[in-house]
Amino acid sequence: MFHRFVLLCLCWWRLIGVFGESVSVMEGDSVTLNTNVTEIHEDDDVLWKFGAEKSLIAEISREDQIFSTFNVPDGRFRDRLKLDHQTGSLTITNITTEHDGLYELQISGDKLSSKAFSVSVYACLPTPNIRRDFSQNLSSSSSSSSSQQNCSLVCSVVDVDHVTLSWYKGNSLLSSISVSDLSISLSLPLEVEYQDKNTYSCVINNPISHQTTHLDISQLCPGMSAVMLMIIY
Ligand SMILES: *[C@@H]1O[C@H](CO)[C@@H](O)[C@H](O)[C@H]1NC(C)=O
Ligand SMILES: *[C@@H]1O[C@H](CO)[C@@H](O)[C@H](O)[C@H]1NC(C)=O
Ligand SMILES: *[C@@H]1O[C@H](CO)[C@@H](O)[C@H](O)[C@H]1NC(C)=O
Ligand SMILES: *[C@@H]1O[C@H](CO)[C@@H](O)[C@H](O)[C@H]1NC(C)=O
Repeated sequence: MFHRFVLLCLCWWRLIGVFGESVSVMEGDSVTLNTNVTEIHEDDDVLWKFGAEKSLIAEISREDQIFSTFNVPDGRFRDRLKLDHQTGSLTITNITTEHDGLYELQISGDKLSSKAFSVSVYACLPTPNIRRDFSQNLSSSSSSSSSQQNCSLVCSVVDVDHVTLSWYKGNSLLSSISVSDLSISLSLPLEVEYQDKNTYSCVINNPISHQTTHLDISQLCPGMSAVMLMIIY
């Protein structure tokens, strides 16, 4: 039983290895899927296919002087595909999340070889927004000490997918929240003391990029220092 399990794991691991390259790209960028061939042989045929339906999106047949790109029925590749006539590499320009998925390359000639590319397209990240959370002083007003000392804040982003939102104090992570589906709104609270001199920042990230907003405590939480000033003067 154990041996079969190990075997299964090994096979699965091999399968992923054979399945080829993972490519991550930001929306709006271009990505080139490389054949790793310096020049296509005269009698080789190159086919590029996309998605679970394996729709044909590009074809090279040097013998027949065919160098073509095709659009899938829903039109998502319109004007976006560029084929390198010498190497057979395929470039997708101005990529969008619609082009996320599996791309398959087949080169047939003396021998048949194929390769798959798993392309992950990440949407551009919004800038996190930090604001004072006034709804907190109702609940904590009874517990006198904390509501006097602490300023409640919330960091939020809207319309995000596959991201993590985090609060940092200096370089150390304080808290974070992740979503793996399209989310209308994502928010994360933070309590700081009014006199706090630490630097705080709210960061949104996906596997390939991030956006940071720094907290300006004196601007968002002036309450206590204003009172202190009145006492001093
Ligand atoms: C293609 O070439 C690149 C760069 O030399 C290399 O990193 C990659 O592993 C190659 N892929 C295959 C499937 O040969
Ligand atoms: C890129 O694609 C988007 C969405 O389809 C489109 O609105 C935009 O005009 C394109 N940009 C360029 C430079 O082609
Ligand atoms: C919470 O406190 C702030 C400042 O002390 C005040 O401006 C705000 O109206 C209060 N909010 C609620 C819901 O009590
Ligand atoms: C007030 O803020 C400090 C510093 O962030 C935190 O350690 C403490 O738990 C907060 N107090 C309450 C009652 O939330």
